[in-house]
Amino acid sequence: MRFDGKVALVSGAGSGIGRATAVGFAARGARVGVADIDGARADAVAQEITKAGGTALAIAADAGAPDGIEAMIAGTVKAFGGLDIVHNNAFGQPTLPSGQRRLAFLGDLDERVWTHTIELGLTGVFRAMKRAIPELLARGGGAIVNTASISGLFADFAIGAYNTAKAGVVNLTRVAAIEYASRGIRVNCVCPGAIDTPLLQPSLSIPGFAEQTLQMIPMRRLGRPEEMAGVVMFLASDLASYVTGAAIVADGGLTAQTGLPTRIPLP
Ligand SMILES: NC(=O)c1ccc[n+]([C@@H]2O[C@H](COP(=O)([O-])OP(=O)(O)OC[C@H]3O[C@@H](n4cnc5c(N)ncnc54)[C@H](O)[C@@H]3O)[C@@H](O)[C@H]2O)c1
Repeated sequence: MRFDGKVALVSGAGSGIGRATAVGFAARGARVGVADIDGARADAVAQEITKAGGTALAIAADAGAPDGIEAMIAGTVKAFGGLDIVHNNAFGQPTLPSGQRRLAFLGDLDERVWTHTIELGLTGVFRAMKRAIPELLARGGGAIVNTASISGLFADFAIGAYNTAKAGVVNLTRVAAIEYASRGIRVNCVCPGAIDTPLLQPSLSIPGFAEQTLQMIPMRRLGRPEEMAGVVMFLASDLASYVTGAAIVADGGLTAQTGLPTRIPLP
């Protein structure tokens, strides 16, 4: 799996899944736009890539805002002469005034949580694809991989906006896939389960959450960011040349089960 001569852009590349993907693309020959709202994190990952002998450009950009989308795509194209691969991956929780709860059932859901989550998690992906597609067409085709979630395929308690945004990403992926399949652009998404990144830490600190989660995952462990990067890189690579419109679940078996309790004692 090589990306020599290719230009890739990863959003939310300063940490977790995005960082692992940016490092992975660069290690396999791509020149990489490392975009993150946190410029210092983007710088650190770009430096890590450069030190390892790769080529990267750090871009401080908000993937939830139109000017941020413009900065990361135009910046990558300007630096490296074009764009072949886009990994739309950025997500971060909204900051609320102290005392306001982010986790809530729909009847109590703070509208700021809804607006932030849809704007960054769904509209941001639409805007990035809209801006990137002409760049990919100018190269004769390319690949887009969006980070959705198993939370886009099924429902969770108290994160309804996230469930809705990620479900939107899954179907937006399919729409773009069928619209551009004949013009050489493949569009897929990865649906991670519970992955050990800073984004998951607040949930893991809820009493009982970590234990219950591990009990529900047949592999009995969290996923690693590098394991998601492997799926993203496969989808972006020529190995996946006949794959488009797919939502690939990578969750240690979590969603393969019905969820009904079993009478068989677990090993
Ligand atoms: N960790 C999980 O369990 C899990 C599960 C399913 C899906 N995901 C998805 O994976 C993606 C990556 O998350 P992660 O777990 O690697 O989290 P992470 O917190 O490790 O990394 C997310 C990165 O995105 C950046 N970011 C946040 N808001 C941004 C914005 N507006 N613009 C640009 N960058 C922004 C952060 O600064 C951070 O560096 C997200 O889309 C997330 O929803 C994560």
